[in-house]
Amino acid sequence: MSDADQPVGLSRGLTNYGDPDFARYLRLSMARAMGYSTDLLRKPVVGIASTYSEFNNCHRGVPELVTAVKRGVLAAGGLPLEFPTISLGEVFLNPTSLFFRNLMSMDTEEMIRGQPMDAVVLVGGCDKTVPAQLMGAVSAGLPAVQVVTGPMMTSRWRGERLGACTDCRRFWAKYRAGEIDDGTVEEVEGNLATTAGTCAVMGTASTMASIAEALGMMLPGTAAIPAVHADRIRAAEASGAAALALARAGTTIRDIVTPESVENAMRVLLAIGGSTNAIIHLTAIAGRAGIEIDLKRLNELSDTTPVLVDLKPTGPFYMEDLHAAGGIGAVLRELKPLLHLDCKTVAGQTLGERLDAEPGYVDRSVVRPLNEPLQPQGGLVALFGSLAPRGAILKRAAADPKLFEQEGRAVVFNSLEDLSSRIDDPDLDVRPEDFLVLQNSGPLSPSGMPESGYLPIPQKLARAGVKDMVRISDARMSGTAYGTIILHVSPDAASGGPLGLVRNGDRIRLSVRDRRIDLLVDEAELEKRRAGQPSTAVKPARGYARLYSREVLQADQGCDFDFLRANPQKE
Ligand code: FES
Repeated sequence: MSDADQPVGLSRGLTNYGDPDFARYLRLSMARAMGYSTDLLRKPVVGIASTYSEFNNCHRGVPELVTAVKRGVLAAGGLPLEFPTISLGEVFLNPTSLFFRNLMSMDTEEMIRGQPMDAVVLVGGCDKTVPAQLMGAVSAGLPAVQVVTGPMMTSRWRGERLGACTDCRRFWAKYRAGEIDDGTVEEVEGNLATTAGTCAVMGTASTMASIAEALGMMLPGTAAIPAVHADRIRAAEASGAAALALARAGTTIRDIVTPESVENAMRVLLAIGGSTNAIIHLTAIAGRAGIEIDLKRLNELSDTTPVLVDLKPTGPFYMEDLHAAGGIGAVLRELKPLLHLDCKTVAGQTLGERLDAEPGYVDRSVVRPLNEPLQPQGGLVALFGSLAPRGAILKRAAADPKLFEQEGRAVVFNSLEDLSSRIDDPDLDVRPEDFLVLQNSGPLSPSGMPESGYLPIPQKLARAGVKDMVRISDARMSGTAYGTIILHVSPDAASGGPLGLVRNGDRIRLSVRDRRIDLLVDEAELEKRRAGQPSTAVKPARGYARLYSREVLQADQGCDFDFLRANPQKE
């Protein structure tokens, strides 16, 4: 819109009839049917990508937020037009929500591109929705603002504070260990998720909200506002106005998502002890802008970015506490010497200007100072070695350092089904110092890279008091989970990676200090196993599953589809 010759609002992207004037006339007459005045129909348009769905509990508040965004756009002199896209409710999807993330991103991209709008406000929240929206919006390239649904509030049960979903896992582990009975676990079930909004801890949804704010894609101070807080509605209203201002200034998402802002987002991911999933999503978002995230660079940043935020699953606090403690702004202010401060934000100011303008309140019990961190290094670390030539991820902030330097015997499960049928077998040959290995749960497996990397402790060990073991897989892990868990092993077993060649009794060496994960089996033996190894990659006959199996990339490339990246590698 900075260019006076560019069509604006409903005059953009006319339907092809071979007669542009007729197309405009027809569009306006159809729009009149919706009851808009001609005056309003001439305004710049802010599209609002709505992800309300009754299959998505985390998005219960979306209609209220969309109404507020509309109010903000109208007050600023624009025409707000809401449109639906796919919504991904984490626990309602089979095989896994990640399988559908790229489909949602395509839907978002094409509806932004195909419909006449000058800017877009993305209203999402649950784990995969924010990444999908940002991926799609980066590819579409318009001015864009992210609004999240916000975290759930915690609730009380028998004097204890509970929030989804670290506490879900804690109580399930107690149940498996025989420490609580059926009635108690059922009672807990009714008290884990009691309001609208996303999981209450620093899980994937909260991590992605924090990253979106660090990227500059969300208004300052809005990542951690609880879903039910009136400030969240005000944030949505302000986001509508901000989107219109971006359109008027000609500031697109590509001016905001840059190599420098992506690095800022990685710093924040490391400092908040964020979800391992987020590195996959950030890689995919950046890849849409032609920005490569190298896991070796992640390690360099991790070495120099301390953990500052004490939220579950690693600490005692919840997202509502982070909001009250100063929010992501407080974290950004601590990290200021490490950040690129000249990055633009959707607020129309740079990150540095934003931080200079903030009042600066911080609760030190939740957000630590840079020189007195919770941990001296970042929450995530990438491991490389003969077991993971293209890398694997460990959330060291949520792991037990006593298990970081050791060699162990592999106890192998070759699929999710194999895992669930044998993990609790009393005759399973397993000891606390063994390494549990799960194969065929990566992007190309039939299970579609589920959050099954949090392998349960075998029941007989759990009942003997074992709380953590080294667990290795090509799967993902929920951001709400914890343990010494090595994830995203690339290439995955289904694409012929070395993980698929591990056999029971093999020795594996882990060294977090050296960033290594190695399978101690000689190459000649591995070659023999490789020759006799049947392919486990799935080849669906039709539909989206076929597209997915042909195009999905490995975890180190964000599990995006090659043809959706800014620089596709295939012909
Ligand atoms: Fe939606 Fe956890 S289920 S954020």
